[in-house]
Amino acid sequence: MLLQLDPSQPEPLYRQLRVAIAEAIEKGRFAAGELLPSSRALAADLDLSRNTVNMAYQELMAEGFLESIPRVGYAVNRDLRRYLAKPPPVEETPRIDWQERMGELGDDLPHLEKPAERHSEPYAFVVGEPDVSLFPTRSWMRAMRAAMSPEHAASSLGDRFDTDDPLLVEMLCRHVLPARGISASSEEVLITMGSQNGLYLVSRALLDPKKRVAVEEPGYPDARHIFKRRGARLVPLPVDDQGMTIPANLSRVDLVSVTPSHHYPTNVTLSVGRRQQLLSQAAAQDFIIVEDDYDSEFRYQGRPTPALKALDETGRVVYLGSFSKFLAPGLRLGYVVADVALIARLRDLRRYMLRHPPGLLQRTMGLMIQAGDYVRSIRRSRIALKDKWERTAAAVEHHVPWEVTMPTGGLSLWLPGPDGFDAVAVAANALAEGVVVEDGSVCYLSQPAPRNALRLGFAGTKADAIEPGIEALGSIIRRHL
Ligand SMILES: Cc1ncc(COP(=O)(O)O)c(C=O)c1O
Repeated sequence: MLLQLDPSQPEPLYRQLRVAIAEAIEKGRFAAGELLPSSRALAADLDLSRNTVNMAYQELMAEGFLESIPRVGYAVNRDLRRYLAKPPPVEETPRIDWQERMGELGDDLPHLEKPAERHSEPYAFVVGEPDVSLFPTRSWMRAMRAAMSPEHAASSLGDRFDTDDPLLVEMLCRHVLPARGISASSEEVLITMGSQNGLYLVSRALLDPKKRVAVEEPGYPDARHIFKRRGARLVPLPVDDQGMTIPANLSRVDLVSVTPSHHYPTNVTLSVGRRQQLLSQAAAQDFIIVEDDYDSEFRYQGRPTPALKALDETGRVVYLGSFSKFLAPGLRLGYVVADVALIARLRDLRRYMLRHPPGLLQRTMGLMIQAGDYVRSIRRSRIALKDKWERTAAAVEHHVPWEVTMPTGGLSLWLPGPDGFDAVAVAANALAEGVVVEDGSVCYLSQPAPRNALRLGFAGTKADAIEPGIEALGSIIRRHL
């Protein structure tokens, strides 16, 4: 019997012996029913005391590895084979039909695709992702260190069940929301893991297969996926130069999803007239508005327009905010502002999904806002982005062979080409030449989707790469006209 025991180990010898014999049995080095050496023989063989061997045998028997045969000795338990039997070879294992068990998602819309190496290409005009090199690392680390200090650690590290960090909620109510013209009490705020999480929770609370959701056309694909997966019917509302068009009668719609500050993907701002119309129709025709205010702060001409929620007197607007575009999407932090009853339901839903967004993140963010570093950071980002926006405007005017209307804010450009222009082919070609742009076809519900619009993000692009990158894109576009 080849058993390796080491007296220098802290583990007692009888335990080592017990583990070694159990492993040998598991590996099939003993047949079921095979007799083990007597305790006297094994003790002599391994230079152990009989007591040590007996203790090991007794444990193995208690665990069912061995059975005692009266007047004969210990044998490998004959019933053990059942448990230790090798699983049949993979090809014989009946396959589980996971697809059938999981059922259908009820969603066949196309997905936004992001090339994995998008940031390492020389001209990365990635849409929707801010420049993480602008992240205020020093302020964040300072706030995070404070969040771990004895004064704050209990808040940062404790289990909050369904509640949020009161400091972050207070900072939102006192500093962040008023800048958007919104006044809210703490019961009207829920912290989320980004606006997508907010969209999901709101959809879970308000939508089912009997509901209809009006969406902007073109619009934000991920919101549509979320609505569709609740079984809701989507009603596309075309977007023009004043934002989403609003039919006179929306009474058959339960929810309208809108990006008023900078429409996704065209960046048009919803006009004041349309805002008033939407709010008064919501009250008269009894629907709810979901306002996705994902990048409102980045305005380069004029002041940011107040949120739709700021004009909401009837509580019909559900406001989704996010720190993804102002700080970093990887933080996964956002918030919902809505009526107390809806927030209570969202809180309940969130509790059984993820309890609450991490306390340490919440407290760090709360402390950063309290210290004034959040506002300073937005100001710095706005200056850097304005510079990129100006470079983009100049380069586009120079190199894109059609007239482009620059948006007054946002983080990207929507570049619809002339009829017949194939943005899908241009985006694929551009990527092969180191220029990352997206085609906009994924943003349409109508099929066949228009293929003539390119999307170009400038927020995460290196300032120096903007002019040569757009020059390169311009020549690729010309080849396709
Ligand atoms: C219109 C719109 N809404 C929501 C989101 C999701 O943002 P978050 O990172 O806060 O979930 C995005 C992200 O790109 C977006 O563009």
